[in-house]
Amino acid sequence: MKITVVGSGYVGTVVAACFAFLGHEVIGVEVDPGRLAMLEKGRAPFHEPGLDTLLADEVGAGRLTFTGDIGEAAARAAVVFLSVGTPSGLNGNPDLTALDAAVRTLGGALNGPTTIVTKSTVPVGTNQWVQSLIEDEMSARGLDDISVPMAANPEFLRVGTAIEDFLHPDRIVVGADDPIAQATMRALYEPIVQQRFPQPSPAPRAVTVEYVETTLSTAELIKYASNSFLAMKISFINEIAQICDRVGADVTQVAEAMGMDHRISPQFLRAGLGWGGSCFGKDLTALATTAREHGFEPPLLQAIGAVNDYQRLEVVRKLQAHLGTLRGKRVALLGLAFKPDTDDTRDAPATQIAAKLRQLGAVVVGHDPVVTSLPDERQLPILADPYEAVQRADAAVIITEWPQFGTLDLERMANLMHGNLIIDGRNILNPAEAIRAGLVYEGIGRGGTLGSPRRRVSDV
Ligand code: UGA
Repeated sequence: MKITVVGSGYVGTVVAACFAFLGHEVIGVEVDPGRLAMLEKGRAPFHEPGLDTLLADEVGAGRLTFTGDIGEAAARAAVVFLSVGTPSGLNGNPDLTALDAAVRTLGGALNGPTTIVTKSTVPVGTNQWVQSLIEDEMSARGLDDISVPMAANPEFLRVGTAIEDFLHPDRIVVGADDPIAQATMRALYEPIVQQRFPQPSPAPRAVTVEYVETTLSTAELIKYASNSFLAMKISFINEIAQICDRVGADVTQVAEAMGMDHRISPQFLRAGLGWGGSCFGKDLTALATTAREHGFEPPLLQAIGAVNDYQRLEVVRKLQAHLGTLRGKRVALLGLAFKPDTDDTRDAPATQIAAKLRQLGAVVVGHDPVVTSLPDERQLPILADPYEAVQRADAAVIITEWPQFGTLDLERMANLMHGNLIIDGRNILNPAEAIRAGLVYEGIGRGGTLGSPRRRVSDV
């Protein structure tokens, strides 16, 4: 099929590259000239494992091209995916400015029957609004009898594993009130449902892909409910971690044993410094706003965000408990991305923690394997080497669960640091090893402090 993907952000680029990989002829639309130039060369404008290779292959094979012209790209397509950004708006709902502009341009350019598919996460009712905007634009050009079937196809891609999630999903959700749209989408996703495409070697886990056909508004709500539920699981285990720290229990074992119950599952039960990223916070707020717009105050949705806000600053409270005043204390933050395997720092806990520590007078330095600047904390010095970052530090804090932090040479760290406190904000270290290396260890919900503080001659 001829497919156009409007918006070459993180989701749009992955979707475009994966549909090209499945053999379709895909045009990606990107309005930013710098990003467009990179994409045209088959290079990803952000860090996502496997994407550079996939883009280079598909652009090289001629199945995937990019353009800045929505109208031209859309006029040639049988299916147009809308994948523009929908950041938080002022009133709790997402800001649909980019979607509005893209849809009006589309409506002015389409000349024949085209299925329009929304990938962007949008509030209930938005797909109907998109359809009527397009129909109005076409009608103004005298094209009243051309059908524009509409589908809502929410994405469940995780940053860092997006290609794997696209090709081997748990489920595909398609909402459409029009049988033509449902039939087109079924044909498009057939190879993924049947897992009939060249599999990488070694073959990934065997998957059964569920295909859910529903209405536009139910599909829209499935996306919001899924992200809110995942955020709720994390906030739940973080609240249990708070209790564990107070009673001397270990949350990692509590979560492991809870997860053995299939009704609960072990996923998204890792306690830590709370969730971040561009999706959970925005989607929770938007869902709560929808509830309020319909006269319902959602207590649970509100609590999920409140628990997360408290949890993010848990390391600051722990640092104060150990070090007293933080004024003049040197703190090294290890990990700045909102999660591993990405350079994405949108709503990353590191930003809020760095700001709070600096406000309390601490000298803060950071290290991340790929992030080189925190847009909202520009003064934070970021060092390329973790050992350089912890040099002369009174405390080191693990903020992001990058796997390489689990294999740090802890003895070397202890020797380089001025103090010997490590706060493991993601519970990735083995506490016994940290203590053997001469560190004072404190995780999140692992029963409090382990090891003895270092006494320097200058402290006596
Ligand atoms: C999330 C959803 O998982 C995707 O299904 C969805 O498609 C995406 O949002 C979206 O709406 O675009 P993502 O934000 O990439 O994906 O990242 P997650 O893997 O969900 O992690 C979110 C945050 O939760 C991270 O900060 C991570 O460190 C934290 N987390 C995750 C925990 O603190 N504990 C856990 O057990 C799992």
